[in-house]
Amino acid sequence: MGGRSRQPKVLAFRCYAASHRSLTMVVWCLAALVMVVNFHLLLVHKEDEDTRVHEIHRSIVGELEKVEEEKFRVSPPRSRRNPRAVRRKGEQKPPSVVDEFLDESSSVHAMFFPERKMAIDPKNDGNDSVYFYYPGRVWLDTAGNPIQAHGGGVIYDEKSETYFWYGENKDGKTYKAHSKGADRCVQGALMRAYNFPAVLDSVYEAQLPGDMLQVCSVRKVDIVGVSCYSSKDLWTWRNEGVVLRGEEKNATHDLHKSNVLERPKVIYNDRTGKYVMWMHIDDTNYTKASVGVAISNSPTGPFSYLYSKRPHDCESRDMTIFKDDNGKAYLIYSSEDNSELHIGQLTDDYLDVTNNMRRFLIAQHREAPALFKYDGTYYMITSGCTGWAPNTALAHAATSVMGPWETLGNPCVGGNDIFRSTTFFSQSTFVLPIPGLSGSFIFMADRWNPSELRDSRYLWLPLTVGGLPDEAADYSFMFPLWSRVSIYWHRRWRLPEGWRES
Ligand code: GAL
Repeated sequence: MGGRSRQPKVLAFRCYAASHRSLTMVVWCLAALVMVVNFHLLLVHKEDEDTRVHEIHRSIVGELEKVEEEKFRVSPPRSRRNPRAVRRKGEQKPPSVVDEFLDESSSVHAMFFPERKMAIDPKNDGNDSVYFYYPGRVWLDTAGNPIQAHGGGVIYDEKSETYFWYGENKDGKTYKAHSKGADRCVQGALMRAYNFPAVLDSVYEAQLPGDMLQVCSVRKVDIVGVSCYSSKDLWTWRNEGVVLRGEEKNATHDLHKSNVLERPKVIYNDRTGKYVMWMHIDDTNYTKASVGVAISNSPTGPFSYLYSKRPHDCESRDMTIFKDDNGKAYLIYSSEDNSELHIGQLTDDYLDVTNNMRRFLIAQHREAPALFKYDGTYYMITSGCTGWAPNTALAHAATSVMGPWETLGNPCVGGNDIFRSTTFFSQSTFVLPIPGLSGSFIFMADRWNPSELRDSRYLWLPLTVGGLPDEAADYSFMFPLWSRVSIYWHRRWRLPEGWRES
């Protein structure tokens, strides 16, 4: 009996246990289902959110990436040579648009250097020009004076939440310095006009027609120093003064006014709490070919000049510095008669170079390097070597900052052929990330005015990274496919509203 009666109990228990197990299973399954559904919903939501953010981003960037054509006609060149000279030397080829651009008496020149009454003026608020960049116009500071920050660069100072723009103060008289040997102005014009070899010999200079010499003998201003401007909005700039001064009396000093100080750049050292400035230091003939270093406790200076040297015992002319996300910093400079670029890591205090140096773009004759990083890839814009005369920019990319560096092609978009082949009549100096707008940057360039260097203009234009490059990589089987780097021509543009937060 007992056995008989036990069995159903066991059975009942088993049934109970089985049904309990299956109930638990069902509960678990349901829970899993709910989780899967939730997870899916989360994914869908995230995708929607991503698409929304992406769309907002696209519409914002779309503004910057509008392709603006330039209708630009040059009137037939006037012959500036007298008929006897023409009979003696034969007819010479007419001046190019670039020659006209450089010639202060030409209407083309006037077109590219509009008068001061057209200036970007932060004091003139209340009109629809506020926050608009007008590439090539005079740009006034908050005191109403033209900004003097040529060959410059911008840093964002976390402590003061302020941008600082450093550059050459060229507010002095432009004069023709004695030009021999390595002068790159003459060299550049020669290369362009006559296809002469890269290394200038004074023999070539002697062969130059008079009017060409007029245009390209070395034009310089005495060293005034490095100016600093501060801004919260990247448009309204307050003059913080000359933070590193030229030397008036001591003729043996690197900064003696008769020498050359170009392309100053500043980075902040998180370890030492110092602001460190690197610059190109040279003599009038560009034969010293060195870098100089200065240091300050404050972004607004004063900077104390430390020393100059030839990095890695190599010539160094156009240069820049770059601070990576991991705090390591690098010096990039044109070397070996400007025929190649070098990149060298700085010491931890940023006051010197280490021995870690690589050569790149060998025999490419590039200068005016401006390095930036996006999405783990390093990019660089460079110019050709034609002195104050504009030439074609190139974009380069690398997965490691020390290289190898690959050339992507001309980044300039819009304008017209001549605009694109002359970097919109300017030369690169710096690329500044636009905070909150990933993949978008401000390309900073100088439109040099060799006849009146203090009146050289600034071109700030949007630069974006994205899409496929025009030219296939040289060794595409070894290198990743790079994104295209594009610099968009705009006569007038501004940063999208809320650029800091977007
Ligand atoms: C350019 C250089 C400028 C300045 C100029 C003088 O090639 O980029 O910074 O040195 O030559 O001719």
